[in-house]
Formats: sequence, structure tokens, C-alpha cells
Amino acid sequence: MELEVYLEKVKSTMLRWIDNLGDSYITNIFQSIESGKMVRSQLMFYIAGERADEVIPLSSIIELVHLASLLHDDVIDNSDIRRGKPSVNATDGSKIAVMIGDILYSKAFVELGKYNQEIIEQVANAVVKLSIGEISDVNLAKHFNNDEKLYLEMIYNKTASLIETSTKVSALAVDKDGEKFGEYGKGLGMAFQIIDDILDITQTSEQLGKPALNDFTEGKTTLPYIYLFKYLEEEEERKILVSFHNKRLNESEKKWLFDKFEESQAVQKAYQLAEEYSYKALHSLPEENKKLVSIVHKLISRSS
Ligand code: FPP
Ligand code: MG
Repeated sequence: MELEVYLEKVKSTMLRWIDNLGDSYITNIFQSIESGKMVRSQLMFYIAGERADEVIPLSSIIELVHLASLLHDDVIDNSDIRRGKPSVNATDGSKIAVMIGDILYSKAFVELGKYNQEIIEQVANAVVKLSIGEISDVNLAKHFNNDEKLYLEMIYNKTASLIETSTKVSALAVDKDGEKFGEYGKGLGMAFQIIDDILDITQTSEQLGKPALNDFTEGKTTLPYIYLFKYLEEEEERKILVSFHNKRLNESEKKWLFDKFEESQAVQKAYQLAEEYSYKALHSLPEENKKLVSIVHKLISRSS
């Protein structure tokens, strides 16, 4: 089966489940949501290989959980745009977005109940981690965070845990090594989020489809800022950096920041850590799998 055919089957499975609820308003909203690249399903497809047909429902469950988390995240982040289109909270309001998220998430769990104990626990625990990660993201954004460990824990929970779970359960479902494929997903997920955070700094707002330097403006001290803080030894300079936290910067402030990024090589250092995670992912692969290797390479070349 081709990847495109697999992804279409995952989409139609989700639509069928939602449509079966018998509420056209909910179906319409669901259909208006852009499906995105479906990275988790792509990984599950390549792990399952010849047995990909068997993991279609499991992929659909993971995608519904992921969509639910994005609907809630856009409410939490007060974000009007998702995947280049108005978010559900923007079109139908936050109350509706929260509850549609609840429906997607609960429907996913109804279907999850048909699996064995190990798979159920993996997915359910991932949702717990997602929520812990999101809470930590919100709390860390209240102040300038210079703790790298807290940042890494937060992105593991918020992003890498569901990717880890996707790769793990896909492997388990087709009798492959769940631990090793899980490690692959974890490394990939960590690298993915670090690079996403780097792109917020290095790309223009046109490329991003949202304002550049948005994370720091929203209070999110991502890895390059943590490394920059460590590099700045003079108290005065650290104070300047911290004073930029959680505010919209003018041109001269942006210039100061970009000059310091250049001088400190903080972005490059963050990129090196993403590379390390991607090597870990590659070394965890228990079998030769060209597609899974090329996904890692593509991710890493995204930021240069
Ligand atoms: C996006 O992060 C958010 C996540 C990856 C996870 C959000 C998780 C929850 C809201 C927990 C609730 C979960 C369920 C299933 C009900 P981001 O804001 O950094 O990225 P963005 O730029 O894509 O918004
Ligand atoms: Mg968000």
C-alpha cells in the first residue's frame, strides 16, 4: 500500500467514527479541520510495513488524540490560526473548541478500548503526559526560564511522548520491538520540537505563517534563549535579555537579540542538541528501514 492511500484510509476512518455520532454540526466542524502532514501516522505506516492495514484504526486513534490536543492548545494559546486556516476557537468559539476536543478524545478512547491492556496503557499514559507537558509549558511561560532540564522535560511530555507512543504501539501491534521503535519516536520527537522552536527564531513571518519570534513574545523561553542566557556573563546583558521576555520587540531590540544570537552561536548549539537526539533516534532503529532514516534526515535539514 502507498503512504497516500494509507493516510486517506486513516482520514476516512476518523470521519466515519465522528459521522456515526449522528450530529451534522460536529461532522461539519471536523471536516473543516486541516489534516496536516499526519507525521505520527506516517511513522506508524513505515513501522508496520507490510502489515500497515492492521494499524489503520490505531493511527486514527492517535490522530484524533493529537487533533483534540491541538484544539485545546489553540484555546490555551489563544491562537486564531492552525495549519494556515482559522482555528475552531476562532470560527466557533472556545467553548465549542474545548468540547469538540473532548469528543474527539473520548471517541478515540472508545475505539482504544478494543485493544489489549499494554496498548491502552501506552496511549492513555501519553495523554496524561501531554497534559502535564502543556501545564508545564503554561507555567514556565510565566517567567524567563533558564533551566534547560525543565525545558527538555516539558517538550518531552508535550510533544515527544505522543510520537514515542505512536511508534511504540505501531510496533507492538505488528509484533515488532516496541521499546526500540519507541526510543526512535522519542528521539525524533525531541529533535522535532527543538527544531520547531529554532525555526520560530530563524524564519521570517512569511515562512512561518505567524509572527516570527512569537514564542518569546508569548513568554516561551525556548532552548536558544536558554543557551543565550548562559552565554551572557554580564549581569547587565542578562537583564536586557530577561526584560525582552513576554513582550513585543521593537526593531532595535530585535537587532540586539539577533546580534547576541550571532555572537553566542546559541541557535547553532540548540541545533546540535537536536542533531544528537536525531542520532539517538537513528541508533535505536532495530532494523534497516530507509524511510524511517530519511524522515530523520528531512527533519534535520528543515532548519538549515
Ligand atoms: C502544541 O504546542 C501542543 C501540544 C503538542 C500538546 C497540547 C496538549 C494538551 C492541550 C493536553 C490535552 C490533551 C487532550 C488529548 C485532550 P505548541 O503550542 O508549542 O505548538 P503550536 O505552535 O503548534 O501551537
Ligand atoms: Mg500552541
